[in-house]
Amino acid sequence: MKNLLLFLSLVVIILSVSCTGRKKSEMRIADLRCEYLINPVGIGEPQPRLSWILDSARRGQKQTAWRVLVSSSREKLERDQGDLWDTGRVDGDQTAQVVYSGAGLKSAQECFWKVRAWDVDGVQTEFSPVASWTMGLLAGSDWKGEWIAMPAVEKAEDAAGQEIETGPPPAWIRKAFSVDKPVRRAVIYATARGIFELYLNGNCVSQDVFAPEWTDYDKRIQYRAYDLTGMLAQGGNALGIVLGDGWYSGYVGWRGRGAYGRQNSVLAQLELEFEDGSSQTIVTDESWRCNSGPLLSADLMMGESYDARLELTGWDSSGYDDSSWQPVAVVEKPEVPLVAQHSQPVRVTEEIGAKAVFQPRPGVFVFDLGQNIAGWARLRVKGEAGTKVVLRHAERLNPDSTVYTTNLRRARATDTYILKGGEEETYEPRFTFHGFQYVEVTGFPGVPDKDAITGCMLNSDTPQVGTFKCSNPMVNQLWRNILWGQRGNFLSIPTDCPQRDERLGWMGDAQIFIRTATCNMDVAAFFTKWMYDVDDAQSQEGAFSEISPRFGSLEAHCGAAGWADAGVIVPWTVYQVYGDTRIIERHYGSMSRWMDYVLRDNPDLIRKNGRGSDYGDWLSIGADTPKEILATAYWAHDARLMSTMAAATGRTDDQRRYGELFEGIRAAFQKAYISPDGHILGETQTGYLLALYMDLLPENLRQAAGEHLVENIRQKDWHLSTGFLGVRHLNPVLTGLGYTDVAYRLLNTDTFPSWLYPIRNGATTIWERWDGWTQEKGFQDPGMNSFNHYSLGSVGEWLYGSVAGIDLDPEVPGFKSIVIRPCPGGGLEYASAEYESIRGTIKSAWRLEGDSLALDVTVPANTHATVYFPCPENVPVTESGVEAGNSEGVTELGRQGDRAVFRVESGEYHFKGVPAI
Ligand code: BGC
Repeated sequence: MKNLLLFLSLVVIILSVSCTGRKKSEMRIADLRCEYLINPVGIGEPQPRLSWILDSARRGQKQTAWRVLVSSSREKLERDQGDLWDTGRVDGDQTAQVVYSGAGLKSAQECFWKVRAWDVDGVQTEFSPVASWTMGLLAGSDWKGEWIAMPAVEKAEDAAGQEIETGPPPAWIRKAFSVDKPVRRAVIYATARGIFELYLNGNCVSQDVFAPEWTDYDKRIQYRAYDLTGMLAQGGNALGIVLGDGWYSGYVGWRGRGAYGRQNSVLAQLELEFEDGSSQTIVTDESWRCNSGPLLSADLMMGESYDARLELTGWDSSGYDDSSWQPVAVVEKPEVPLVAQHSQPVRVTEEIGAKAVFQPRPGVFVFDLGQNIAGWARLRVKGEAGTKVVLRHAERLNPDSTVYTTNLRRARATDTYILKGGEEETYEPRFTFHGFQYVEVTGFPGVPDKDAITGCMLNSDTPQVGTFKCSNPMVNQLWRNILWGQRGNFLSIPTDCPQRDERLGWMGDAQIFIRTATCNMDVAAFFTKWMYDVDDAQSQEGAFSEISPRFGSLEAHCGAAGWADAGVIVPWTVYQVYGDTRIIERHYGSMSRWMDYVLRDNPDLIRKNGRGSDYGDWLSIGADTPKEILATAYWAHDARLMSTMAAATGRTDDQRRYGELFEGIRAAFQKAYISPDGHILGETQTGYLLALYMDLLPENLRQAAGEHLVENIRQKDWHLSTGFLGVRHLNPVLTGLGYTDVAYRLLNTDTFPSWLYPIRNGATTIWERWDGWTQEKGFQDPGMNSFNHYSLGSVGEWLYGSVAGIDLDPEVPGFKSIVIRPCPGGGLEYASAEYESIRGTIKSAWRLEGDSLALDVTVPANTHATVYFPCPENVPVTESGVEAGNSEGVTELGRQGDRAVFRVESGEYHFKGVPAI
């Protein structure tokens, strides 16, 4: 039957080719990306990587060959002239991580590209739509301007002794210039010590927030590029820059201001190419002028103060009289590389209307967004000039419905707006952000209605790629909270929390959550950028930091088990999920230095020496896992990942060496911590979980250790006791051992401590602590109690991977081979997930239908999947009504435990059988 079908389709193809003479494949090419981004402007990679997705409903569709054309102009590309790169027809199925290998690319070069492929029958597709990228300024010498600043009005001395020092007001900087020829192309490159907004002829053209974002400014500074083609006027033009503190000079973490420096400065370069082939460059220099404006102060944590009466109307237009402004100061340029920002910028990604407004005290209005977010509030107000409206932000309410702000610690999170009077006014901050669900408004003239406040959600604009749904609304809310926790904390870097005076790149949190993060959003570019921060924060001796970008000295905060190890785990995860080997190449040196450093201090293969704050299994519930166990387990894990990454990049000696190191640490671990009957010293859930997940037990003790783990959970009346490090592995390990029922039991528990307990108590994001708020005790210690911390949400990967059943094939990175292994159970009637992988959309959706289980699967073109269908032996499984093994695109692979196993080629499939639950 199968052969007949194949034969017939072949005949049809041959006939149609010979009839038309140029048959085109039905396969379509979509989603062209360069360095993971859509049409990026200002790339710094001399050999950027390209990827595309193949779209086809046909089963078993594949790419057998491809051709990429890259041209220096759109016109050339339209004529199929790949003057920069024409690969010709290349046999193979590669669609991602295609390294540009054409002509050398120059600074500011425009590159237009398209792809054609040949399908499984060797028939060629249409060309893809045209995509583009442009190069940034590749050499330091490309920058022609000066770093300019507002002459120092530093108030540090007056402020000494004050608890909260207010920085100087942001600077308004401008320059008028004229253009006398038609412009063909205009691009501006800009960077700052501080954060900027760019204006041209009355419009904000920087589109992003907090540009150029956070790095260790003593190691590298990012720049941004914006295409301004079509926005310049013939005649007079004006460029404007508003420059604020940001991370460079404002408050960072729990320290004071000025972590990297005290004087903000900016460097910008506008490149104009005229129709006639000539060019003009406008750069920042001593001819620019500056002033203070309506922003009296602005700090990421403290908030903004804005006096609308001081607005400088028309300041960013050419006719403005700036004679009362002062000349800028030219300041020393930083001796660090200026690098293109390759990650998605921070933007306002969603607006949320207030759900309710109430008045806990006269004149005090509290707006409830119904969702805890990171961002700011937009205010609409009408009143007399000089009226001062104050906005305070909070995640929770006190019992009397006033805002609860003590957990913000020193972050004042207060915005003040002073009205100019007249028409209705709208105010929205620009150089601050808060973590909040509630906005308290005081000083409002009259009684506001709900739409006086709108929540503006801010985050790195990483595209959402995953969705999850099941029949239990509480579990759906858990998934939502995980997603929103990620949205609120992936803000330039992976932060721990967005609300208190912390907001740091804690590495433990990042490594625990990264796999879940990849399920929710495309974080390839985000983590590619962050890994440079991780390298920059590595100590001289080779210890990875616990916080990146660096916080304090390079020697502070390094080496902690489960935190520093992110330096190895993050590149490995990016390799697994996106098939990216460049991230391994780029960081191989720092990863090896880390491995050497740990070994140097711990020659007996138990990790007990070296730097490192001992956070342990942070925030576990009365279950302290011995620190050495955690540290040694993570070290073994690092060694194993290093061995895999060495293999992936052709480093055979290292593959062996790290493989042996893993075996050595494993043996030492077994000797020191595992009893002959499979008990692990410390008897904690996390101890068992790490040993099981990291493969540290002898094969014959795995089952016994699993039983001890389950016994431990049973003794806690079926509750978890894991902290940050253990929680990630809890349900995946239980499922892997065949205890999916226990995993579901933990998932469905809503008594303390559990994932659902906070949801019962109104959580809309993941809390930092299992007991952030309890019925008995109310709020936890405000010294450390965030209601938006993603770490305990690392169960997300299990929702996708096991409940719905979409997972990676550990042997084949980048979803070229997919595992579909749904786990019906836990009282669920259905569950489904959809994931846009780097190779296209994967779906797994199951539902119970009477006595049978239906499973719909979508596998993207040019990939295949292994489907593990849970059913008793000898009971047939059908696919689209046919016995599965006989169905087109399906190959029966036999059984594994209680599952029938099939290999499926690309396409959509509908399996049905009697479930084994
Ligand atoms: C942060 C954490 C972090 C931890 C280190 C806390 O203050 O909020 O998320 O990982 O310190 O133990």
